[in-house]
Amino acid sequence: MKIIHLTDTHFVPPGKTLYGGDPQATLAAAVADINRHHADADLVCITGDLTHWGEPAAFASLDETLQPLIPPLQLLIGNHDDRTAFAEQFPDQRRDEAGFVQSCRRTGQGRLVFLDTVQPGTHAGWYCGTRRAWLARQLQAAAAADEAVFLFMHHPPFKTGLAPLDRIALQEPEHFAATIAPHAGRIRHLFFGHIHRPLGGSWRGIPVSSLRAMNHQCWLDFAAEDEIAGSFEPPAYAVVLIDAESVVIHTHDFLDRSRKFSLRKSPVEDWAVRRTHP
Ligand SMILES: [Fe+2]
Repeated sequence: MKIIHLTDTHFVPPGKTLYGGDPQATLAAAVADINRHHADADLVCITGDLTHWGEPAAFASLDETLQPLIPPLQLLIGNHDDRTAFAEQFPDQRRDEAGFVQSCRRTGQGRLVFLDTVQPGTHAGWYCGTRRAWLARQLQAAAAADEAVFLFMHHPPFKTGLAPLDRIALQEPEHFAATIAPHAGRIRHLFFGHIHRPLGGSWRGIPVSSLRAMNHQCWLDFAAEDEIAGSFEPPAYAVVLIDAESVVIHTHDFLDRSRKFSLRKSPVEDWAVRRTHP
């Protein structure tokens, strides 16, 4: 199974820029690259912050930009999005019975579970009792079918060591942890967004990963106390390869224009071509 993970597209209305960048042009380039190299993907998942201020015009621009995408599409919302405007623009993206942007997909490798951690009025993530009950039911169903689970969410349920980002991570993560604890052993990976940074590791034994955003990034500054330092490190998408034994994640700087060359011969006269293997 191949999944393409993108995150934090931060769309703005057409003709507007964001911190000087053009989210629409960047995502259009990503879509073209995915169609060219990964049209066989089973799913493309964008883990939230689809827009920057949640305007209907921004969601409409996102929808239009995603139209050419060949693989199936799964969207999550983030703290910058408006749930109502999202639902109006993307009526085909499934929601749970309470209206949260939550759904499941059953695959040959297990159950993909997409979570909604948005609380209007705050950039921090929240996962209320209603949503926890829904998640518990999905995990129980996966257990009954003896299926593996892959979680997708916007806010990380753990601290990253970057103080300004940690303040807006998922709040009261102990409640979330308690919900998944009975089934943690079958959760093979947790994919998230929000931090605009590449990060991999594990949380309570569950492998986790995120990656750079589409428009702007958060600079790695462990000294920052209050403000998040932005940067323009290049955007990336992740190519996730899943089989019964492994979850392999490649991050791809799809806008990289550096020279590509054979490792058998250096593009310049240097030490690379002066040594031979024994
Ligand atoms: Fe974001």
